[in-house]
Amino acid sequence: MKAVLLNGSPREGNSYTALAALKKGFTHIEDLVIEEIAAGDVSVSPCLACEVCHDSGMCVFDDDTNEIMDDIVSADVIVFATPVYWWGITAQLKLIIDKFYSRSSQLMECKKQVGIIAVGQMPVEDTQYELIRKQFECICGYLGWDIAFYNAYSAYDAGDLAENADAIAEIEELWKQIK
Ligand SMILES: Cc1cc2nc3c(=O)[nH]c(=O)nc-3n(C[C@H](O)[C@H](O)[C@H](O)COP(=O)(O)O)c2cc1C
Repeated sequence: MKAVLLNGSPREGNSYTALAALKKGFTHIEDLVIEEIAAGDVSVSPCLACEVCHDSGMCVFDDDTNEIMDDIVSADVIVFATPVYWWGITAQLKLIIDKFYSRSSQLMECKKQVGIIAVGQMPVEDTQYELIRKQFECICGYLGWDIAFYNAYSAYDAGDLAENADAIAEIEELWKQIK
């Protein structure tokens, strides 16, 4: 089984901490290969809507897009951890998700289990977390993927989530949602 952990944050902050806690739990899953992608560290140009990928299945850019898409296509599990930026996911993560367009028919053919962790400054009751949940429900519904978990946490400074022992303990148990 292969899991891709996609960190939408440009910093080693709360999303990074969440994925580290998740990884600790994921060690319970037998034969799991983990691939980590930090959206802030990769080079992914914005989609041009040139449609070349619709014939070739490849993005025209000579950047990290095609390699990342190879990882996404071959993954059984994809976990998105994203800070909330302006009531939504980060631009860095959205650049990568936009490129799913280049492999959409392939991605629809292979069922995936998806986990989502959203971290924002606002309390977890804020509408922003519902907006993000809805966006992923639409994306996963379109691609035919299953959402195994969606968890939201309130944290602001880079070290805040690490100090929330209850949140970390909860994230470490999320591997149990993967079938
Ligand atoms: C550009 C920017 C926009 C942000 N917008 C929001 C927002 O709309 N709602 C919110 O709750 N927090 C917002 N935040 C705060 C981050 O979501 C918060 O600091 C989060 O913990 C960052 O996650 P990270 O440590 O993984 O980078 C924003 C931060 C930045 C830098």
